[in-house]
Amino acid sequence: MKKHIVLLPGDGIGTEVTSAAKDVLETIADEFNHTFTFESKDIGGTAIDQHGSPLPQDTIDACRKADAVLLGAVGGPKWDNNPSHLRPEKGLLGIRKELNLFANLRPVQGFSNLLHASPLKREVVENSDMLIVRELTGGLYFGTPSERRNNGSDVVDTLAYSREEIERIIRRAFDAAMLRRKHLTSVDKANVLESSRMWREIVEEIKPEYPEVTVEHMLVDAAAMKLITSPTQFDVIVTENMFGDILSDEASVLTGSLGMLPSASLNEEAFGLYEPVHGSAPDIAGQGIANPLATILSAALMLRHSFRMEDEAKRIECAVSEALNRGYHTGDLNVKDGEQVNTHKMTAVVVELLKADS
Ligand code: NAI
Ligand code: MG
Repeated sequence: MKKHIVLLPGDGIGTEVTSAAKDVLETIADEFNHTFTFESKDIGGTAIDQHGSPLPQDTIDACRKADAVLLGAVGGPKWDNNPSHLRPEKGLLGIRKELNLFANLRPVQGFSNLLHASPLKREVVENSDMLIVRELTGGLYFGTPSERRNNGSDVVDTLAYSREEIERIIRRAFDAAMLRRKHLTSVDKANVLESSRMWREIVEEIKPEYPEVTVEHMLVDAAAMKLITSPTQFDVIVTENMFGDILSDEASVLTGSLGMLPSASLNEEAFGLYEPVHGSAPDIAGQGIANPLATILSAALMLRHSFRMEDEAKRIECAVSEALNRGYHTGDLNVKDGEQVNTHKMTAVVVELLKADS
């Protein structure tokens, strides 16, 4: 198959980890006789410096023409004091909105060799395997008004959703649950927020269409606690944009590092943008020591969700798992035995393991 992939490396370690994932995708193309072509575009702080905008029109156009997009991360101290329209994350929020990527899938799975890398007890983390489905283009991060008022003495943000926006993300989550253990936890703050009460009603309305799925409603504060005290009780979690942002960073503790968590952001069709959950990590940027696995696993999600290449996706996931089992780990993982390696070496190990004759 022929596929055209746009790379948006972005800032900080974003460039280092996207280049690693590109190596992996090129190896997959060789192994499975596909043709993947790549094109790099600017986004975030780099785009501000080069083009005066965090999301140049040229970047949007290239993404629209692509079969899928792989993004690194955006942001860094250099742009922290910029005015709000010149902030790197405007690029990220903007591309999600432009491409209508409303469904953010974040699988969280403990790798067996990393169980002791989590600060949580092994018996708590063991066998945890969940999918967080986060609404990505509405809610608190996009609602208007969002502004300072009365000469800066007051401020407002808005949590707004249309019925249609809630319905489509809930259906996506039910569909995902049908392919897994058929348990859906809808997370909200219905004791306080009107938007959450409507969210709950809509889940109840859609539930009869999926009689095999067991549904549970949970308040977000309770969910935050249960996520790390009894993570195995979760299969699919569906939630509002900001709740999902926070819960998925929290869930990364189960995997031992933010550097292990991939994500897929999808529209109504199979088109998607794939990116690690972590940010641009300015504290380690440019040192060549970033963990590339979250981005490599994001590339696997691209193969699965956008290209329907399940065997290829599994090949990557197995290679990552095997690399960890052989003791290779980057510095962010709290692993005592085995060999601590840099980004380049970690990628080379995965690439070698991808080859059919290895
Ligand atoms: P961060 O995720 O960049 O880093 C948090 C901590 O985890 C740091 O100590 C970092 O070194 C470490 N870390 C993250 N990814 C790693 C990897 N792959 N390998 C090894 N260590 C890794 O979050 P932080 O520090 O809050 O934000 C830094 C910048 O990134 C900010 O400008 C922020 O706005 C931006 N950011 C961008 C995101 C995106 O592009 N999707 C998401 C989150 C933050
Ligand atoms: Mg986040």
